[in-house]
Amino acid sequence: MEPLIYQTIIERYSNLSDLDDAEMQLLLKAKDALENAYAPYSQFQVGAALLLENGDVITGNNQENVAYPSGICAERTAIFYASSQNPNMKILKIAIAAKSPIQLVSSPVYPCGSCRQALVEYENKAQSPITVIMMGEAGEIHRCQSIESLLPSFFHADFLKKS
Ligand code: THU
Repeated sequence: MEPLIYQTIIERYSNLSDLDDAEMQLLLKAKDALENAYAPYSQFQVGAALLLENGDVITGNNQENVAYPSGICAERTAIFYASSQNPNMKILKIAIAAKSPIQLVSSPVYPCGSCRQALVEYENKAQSPITVIMMGEAGEIHRCQSIESLLPSFFHADFLKKS
């Protein structure tokens, strides 16, 4: 049999000003949000900003815990809050920004595996791709067209369907 081949296209930008205005504003909101991160253990501050179809922007940041696994990433803070407030939401875009006082974050920060799975749930539920825009403190800005492209062959609701 032929192998299955998955393709992920990452668009790259050198500057914030190379993005369109809406995406630039969303990234700036993610950058603002990281300032309220609670990250006393890693010092790694992450902010996420979701643009909903109705124009609302919902932000979140990472919230750490002394029992490390009890903490949560910025992306899940944002998406769980968004869904709790707007259960029928459609998310158009998510912007993610990060910084650290320990070392310069010189490349874009991609959502971790658990966040990709959490995000793809809502992408799939709404049947509408979520654009992802990511930046560090310096270096390139990356953009991709969907969460699924970052998590091909994800664990899908169909697996739980009864026949
Ligand atoms: N973190 C996020 O909030 N989002 C990511 O995409 C990667 C990691 C957080 C979790 C933890 O508080 C800190 O960054 C270091 O892993």
